[in-house]
Amino acid sequence: MRHAARHPARIGPYVRRLVRDWRLRRATGDDHVAYYRAVMRSDTARNPNGAVGTASQERWMALGELQFSYLRSHGLAPSHRLLEIGCGNLRAGWRFIDYLEPGHYYGVDISPDILLAAQRVLVSHGLQHKLPHLCVVDNLRLAHFPDAHFDAVHAHSVFSHSPRHVIEECLTHVPRVLKPGGFFDFTYNRTDGTEHHVLREDFYYRPGTLIALAEARGLTATPMEDWDALPHKQSKIRVTVDGGGRS
Ligand SMILES: C[S@@+](CC[C@H](N)C(=O)[O-])C[C@H]1O[C@@H](n2cnc3c(N)ncnc32)[C@H](O)[C@@H]1O
Repeated sequence: MRHAARHPARIGPYVRRLVRDWRLRRATGDDHVAYYRAVMRSDTARNPNGAVGTASQERWMALGELQFSYLRSHGLAPSHRLLEIGCGNLRAGWRFIDYLEPGHYYGVDISPDILLAAQRVLVSHGLQHKLPHLCVVDNLRLAHFPDAHFDAVHAHSVFSHSPRHVIEECLTHVPRVLKPGGFFDFTYNRTDGTEHHVLREDFYYRPGTLIALAEARGLTATPMEDWDALPHKQSKIRVTVDGGGRS
């Protein structure tokens, strides 16, 4: 109520989202992936750039550049194979595709609608010859990928939309597909107070919770503190299998 009083202009959009999400939750039950896929369908129909969190083209370009330049300066090389989890409409993905050798970019997402938008972005940047792999997934078990295939795994603004069991599934299965010395970077909504969610769309975690989930699987989790200095609200953690990820 205090938040609403401080930001009255946000009340209308929030109520519309509340009603829309209630309807989608009724249709999809307890299945978070089905629910969030329906959210993405609704948001993508309105504006694919808005569906990934940056409605204006200018912000969409800036957020992609931020992700790309950070990952390139923190270990990504053109010869690497990169898996992007929750690739959306290739906000950063088109830059990764452009940078990496042909066939070295793999993007997965739960939303067929945003992957169709991703294909349009690929075409608009003339990157067909880079032959990226884009596929829709139902879960994060990554079962269709071979062992030790990826040098890097990247998930930007995905755990911020994920309940704990989805994050646990991801942390359980990413290590199998990482090469020795590879790394997994993810962002999340950080809270230093009580963990919570908003409409089961946005989830807030304490860093210690995510670090403990990684460590429980024998992984090393390192907060990327220089990321926090950049103009982005989420925090970032790098996970490595043996503590020896390239930097
Ligand atoms: C905020 S968007 C970010 C997209 C992209 N990472 C970027 O930065 O532009 C979140 C994306 O993650 C996808 N997503 C959400 N939960 C997912 C899950 N459990 N597995 C795979 N993709 C997921 C959504 O469909 C959406 O495309």
